[in-house]
Formats: sequence, structure tokens, C-alpha cells
Amino acid sequence: MADRNVLYQEAVQDVEAEIDFVEQTWNELRDRPATRLREDFCGTANTSCEWVRRHPHHIATSVDLDPEVLNWGEAHNVAALTLDQQHRIRLVCGDVRDVHTPGLDVVLAMNFSYYLFMDRIAMLEYFRSVHNQLAEDGILFLDAYGGYEAPMVLEEPRECDGFTYIWEQAEFNPIDSQMQCYIHFEFPDGSRLDRAFSYRWRLWTLPELRECLLDAGFRDAVVYWAGTDEETGEGDGIYSPSEVGDADPGWVCYLVAEA
Ligand SMILES: C[S@@+](CC[C@H](N)C(=O)[O-])C[C@H]1O[C@@H](n2cnc3c(N)ncnc32)[C@H](O)[C@@H]1O
Repeated sequence: MADRNVLYQEAVQDVEAEIDFVEQTWNELRDRPATRLREDFCGTANTSCEWVRRHPHHIATSVDLDPEVLNWGEAHNVAALTLDQQHRIRLVCGDVRDVHTPGLDVVLAMNFSYYLFMDRIAMLEYFRSVHNQLAEDGILFLDAYGGYEAPMVLEEPRECDGFTYIWEQAEFNPIDSQMQCYIHFEFPDGSRLDRAFSYRWRLWTLPELRECLLDAGFRDAVVYWAGTDEETGEGDGIYSPSEVGDADPGWVCYLVAEA
């Protein structure tokens, strides 16, 4: 009975933290404010909604291939905005490589969605198309994950408010680095939303991605790595430019590519 998009937003996304990172990093790198953002692989357009809520000058375009998830985002997330905010957001149904949205300040692709491109040719095509749509001083923000547990076949449950979120890495092929992952949800009454989301993607490495970004025309592709909380030994959520990371079992970082 549960709505899988509600569960996904609660369990997976942290749009406030994403936009905090974008705004803080933009302000460190640029002397003017960013206004025009495009959210690629936007799903329910949750991050775009956060962008337009932040400032009356903020404008967002949200792109996804799937009309169903866009309709859900329109009905639940966009509809909850004020009228002024709604006028500053546009949902586009299409392939992120084909949309024409020139002069963007920021392009954002979060939760590793661009890992769906399986080979270098497709990834380069995507990065080149983003580069073409960015303003001269525009910036592409990506997240990335890895670590020695990333290619393992495993199930990782996490307790959320009123349900359990389960991330499953079901298959990994070391020859092409492609993997099959699922998200399941479990409820206190024992019921389950099995394979609520499924992803077939390639586990890309940071050097592969950085090389692609430079080949696509970006001036640089800087990794922002999280610091370590001295008490817990876990990431402290503060990301800064780094050339050396830790050999953690599982890490998440940002890639920041300047046009
Ligand atoms: C992992 S989900 C999106 C997650 C969301 N960005 C987030 O941060 O949680 C991936 C989305 O990408 C969309 N998608 C896959 N390939 C695409 C493409 N080539 N162009 C646009 N959207 C695509 C799917 O329809 C799906 O909604």
C-alpha cells in the first residue's frame, strides 16, 4: 500500500545537504550568484524544488525519461510549492543527452544516476552535452561512490522512520564492471515492497570519470572528499577538494567539474 516514491525520498535523498553543497561550493569558486540549475535524472524533482525554495531568483529545469515519475513529482512536490516557486520550475520529459537548455549555471546529477551509461562513448556523449549547455563559468556537480564493498554481492538494511530500507547489490560482473542493484522496503507488519526500484549500471571509478570529464571539455574535475569525524571514525559530511582519499569499505564523494 505504501508509495514507493515517498519511501525513496525519505530513505535515499537529502536534498537540503545537496543544495547546501552546491551553494557553498559555487560561492567559493564564483563571484556571482548561481540562478539557473538543471537537475538531470531528476525522478520526482525533489532537488529542483529545494533549489527554487532557496531564493526568489532561482530557476530550475528537471529532466527525466520517465513520464510516470515526473507526473508524481508534479502532483506531490511541485504542487506543494508556492505559486511563485512553481513558475520557476520546469519539468522536461526526455533524455538528458538531448535536452536544449543553454546558459545553465549548475547541472546536477545525484545518487549516481549517470552510472547508467555503460560505456565511455555514452558517458562522453553525456558530459559533452552538459558542457555545451553550461554557461562559460558553469559547473557540473556529480556524486560518486565506491570502496572495496561496492562491487560485493550483499544486502544492506537500514532502519528508517516506520520502515526498513534495504539496498541490495545482487550481481557484479568484474569483466565489464556492470552490476544489478535493487531497493526493497520492509514494514513492521512483515509486508514488503520487493524490488521497488532496480538499477542496472556500471561501477565507474573516479579516475575513469575524471578522464572522461576532461576529454569532454571541462577545465577540471575535482574530487571533494569527506573529512573524518574523530569520535565515530565515520565521514563528517564536510567535503573538500582532495587528491588523496581513504581506502574505506564504502565511500561517497562529489565530483565538481568547471566548464
Ligand atoms: C536513481 S533515479 C533518480 C534519482 C534522483 N536523481 C536522486 O537524486 O535520488 C534515476 C532516474 O533516471 C532516469 N533516467 C534514466 N536514464 C535517463 C536518461 N538517459 N535521461 C533522463 N533520465 C534518465 C530514470 O527514469 C530514473 O527516474
